[in-house]
Amino acid sequence: MEGVVISAREDGSTVSISVVTNAQGRFAFPAERLESGHYTLKARAAGYELDGVKGAAVAAGQETKVEIKLRKVKNLSAHLTNAEWLMSMPGTDEQKRFLLNCTGCHTLERIMKSTHDADGFLEVIQRMSLYYPGSTPLKPQRLAGTATRDVERGGNGRKTAEWLASINLSQEATWTFPLKTEPRLTGKSTHVIITEYDLPNSLIQPHDVMLDREGSVWYSDFGQMFLGKMDPKTGKVTQYPIPVVKPGSPEGTLDLEFDKDDNPWVGVMYQSAIAKFDKKTQKFQMWTTPKEWDTDGGQLGHLAIEGTNIDNKVWIKNSDVGNIYRLDLITNRMENLGNFKDPRTGKRIGTYGIHSDAQNNAYLLDFSAGNIVKIDGKTKNATVYQTPTPDSRPRRGRVDHEGRLWFGEYQGNAIGMFDPKTERMTEWKVPTPWSAPYDAVLDRNGEAWTGSMLTDRVARLDIKSGQYTEYMLPRPTNIRRVYVDDSKNPGALWIGSNHGASIVKVEPLD
Ligand code: HEC
Repeated sequence: MEGVVISAREDGSTVSISVVTNAQGRFAFPAERLESGHYTLKARAAGYELDGVKGAAVAAGQETKVEIKLRKVKNLSAHLTNAEWLMSMPGTDEQKRFLLNCTGCHTLERIMKSTHDADGFLEVIQRMSLYYPGSTPLKPQRLAGTATRDVERGGNGRKTAEWLASINLSQEATWTFPLKTEPRLTGKSTHVIITEYDLPNSLIQPHDVMLDREGSVWYSDFGQMFLGKMDPKTGKVTQYPIPVVKPGSPEGTLDLEFDKDDNPWVGVMYQSAIAKFDKKTQKFQMWTTPKEWDTDGGQLGHLAIEGTNIDNKVWIKNSDVGNIYRLDLITNRMENLGNFKDPRTGKRIGTYGIHSDAQNNAYLLDFSAGNIVKIDGKTKNATVYQTPTPDSRPRRGRVDHEGRLWFGEYQGNAIGMFDPKTERMTEWKVPTPWSAPYDAVLDRNGEAWTGSMLTDRVARLDIKSGQYTEYMLPRPTNIRRVYVDDSKNPGALWIGSNHGASIVKVEPLD
């Protein structure tokens, strides 16, 4: 069988290594990646589980041979990814798109295995709108005061609830439709080594992962007030506690960025603040939303510092009503640019990611429609550009060394690129349906990368040929930010397994 992900973990270790079986069903771990010791083996192939051998002893200077057998699982539903649930369930694409709002805090399995009728669903959806986006069933966090979130985004209330009640287990003991799985990835997709580093506790949600110039791996924690640092040689983790500045509001951080001095910054979400960590003094400096502007829903999850050296200004987004702030690092004052509108529809730009270029102009990614907005840093004038796919819901991205903006189209299922020189956009659709890319980044080897909140796959795009290579990850993940270490060719992708409390490195072999 080709395309089976085989993982090995030395007993007592927090690090696992995975490889993928080739067309002959063979797999091999490179000798330099395994120390001598006893290893536990795991396999991932939808619909199958290991039969028999589950471990192997490795000794220095010797080849260890293991033969692995797989057997069919009895309960396929436990193997389905979010994307496979969407493929399997009856309904129109428009109905299914509603569920793109339900993958941030838990899997769709929870919804498909529920027994709510339509009234029940109306109540559940209402309850979901009161949770902080970095909640999980392990650690739910309620929003403070009167804050709520729009988890329906255009869904039509009762009709949606009725449809959900027709596809879950409210009417039948099991689903009446067949459960479908994606074909396993083959060919070039099997030429890869994947390393997973488990984090010290299961509540850590590594939302953004980045490397600093020394090669240390840093992560933001979506559900707790820590900035994390990991040594990739040993897997050792240090957690730096971030001060709570708005007690009673949800705790957790989202966007992680590095400034020109190689110091990390994070968006501290519902604490309505941003923070800079000085690596030398090991202290945080915080900037909070001025009191007169702040609300229960004040949320500073995203900031942009790529061009800050030009004018000492940091771009910040307050998600509450989409206001755009600029922090002046000389005066430590924030300026409120207000929110922007789409001139075609009159609708407010629903900014998710905010990114800056080398001249410190800003880009807003309109997650509630299909717009990219460019704000001129000098004149503050905004220009609104439409993505080729309508309502593509661009989410996050990054400006490359040529000044082009790369982004993930969450609903457009594509990597998008805006070239400010020609003012044109290009899209490349990700091959696996319902990949729902969250973020995209171009590396210096001419390849763009993205991850998925729904498929447990990452995708690598050769922008010259337009060809994608996808890689299957060993365990359920929920991927947000993507970061590429492009010091080598091919580059290595670093991501957080946001719901798996681990950091994952994906190294293609060619
Ligand atoms: C902001 C985070 C968040 C989002 C987004 C979210 N959920 Fe939840 N969900 C939770 C948490 C936390 C729990 C566990 C606590 C609870 O049941 O209230 C949960 C539990 C559930 C359950 C199981 C509990 C029950 O009462 O059956 C269902 C079903 C569910 N969610 C449906 C949905 C649907 C449908 C959506 C999309 C509209 C959604 N969720 C979006 C956080 C979220």
